[in-house]
Amino acid sequence: MSSEVVELFDRVADRYDEVLPFFAAFGRLCVDRLPAPGPGDRLLDVGAGRGAIAVGARARGFTVTATDASPGMVRRLKQEHPDLDARVMDAGKLDFEDDTFDVATAGFVMHLLDDPPAGVREVKRVLKPGGLFAFTGPGRVPDGFEFADGADALFAEFAQYLPPRGGMGEPFEEMDELAAAGFTGIDETDLRIELAVPDAETFWQWLQTHGTRKFVDDLPAERRAEFRARLIADLEAREHIVLRKYAWLYRGWA
Ligand SMILES: C[S@@+](CC[C@H](N)C(=O)[O-])C[C@H]1O[C@@H](n2cnc3c(N)ncnc32)[C@H](O)[C@@H]1O
Repeated sequence: MSSEVVELFDRVADRYDEVLPFFAAFGRLCVDRLPAPGPGDRLLDVGAGRGAIAVGARARGFTVTATDASPGMVRRLKQEHPDLDARVMDAGKLDFEDDTFDVATAGFVMHLLDDPPAGVREVKRVLKPGGLFAFTGPGRVPDGFEFADGADALFAEFAQYLPPRGGMGEPFEEMDELAAAGFTGIDETDLRIELAVPDAETFWQWLQTHGTRKFVDDLPAERRAEFRARLIADLEAREHIVLRKYAWLYRGWA
């Protein structure tokens, strides 16, 4: 497990998803796409954070186990949902028997792992035969998607200033890795959200409260200042600031 990644999430756990409910919005879309649970169906949420998927899945009737490598995230999750089964655990080494769960989910987690393909195999191991794995992550820009701000272009431009291994998360071949791990019926769907943002500073604060913060922190100081100034100028030039984002939902059956 990358201690840098987990430390970052530990640092931001108290404000995570509180500035703008970005992960909660995607979590809802993911939960909506899960099949209705049968009696006693068990769901494992890997890298659960503050519960964007776990809490909604429990409300839908699953018996949920939420896991995360960040003690800070698990502490906050337990504070807010004392009766939720939440445990500190590395996604690369799940402390469960084979064939334990009916469904596994992971919201914006798999691409952060040191070895995403091994993480996919580990989830397969703990799923019952026929169980569903549904996980979200970034990916190519979906057809017809239009950015509502210049942030993504700025991230692309400033990536050249990151030190080696700066930023967070590596893309991987999600569909191929699901197939290689033995999942079947694999599909992908793009999910989209749109949130109103009151002002440019709120947008900036939002960037500080999740994994993107590592990108900003890893920039050399003068580039970080330039990045912030250009982002704020871009946002302030707009009549309305809207956080419009997409993610990909990947699904496969064990
Ligand atoms: C972007 S957050 C997503 C949290 C939650 N799934 C959501 O949708 O809001 C990524 C989460 O993955 C956790 N994480 C990162 N590396 C991990 C690992 N190796 N094992 C378990 N959790 C990990 C982080 O602590 C963080 O809570």
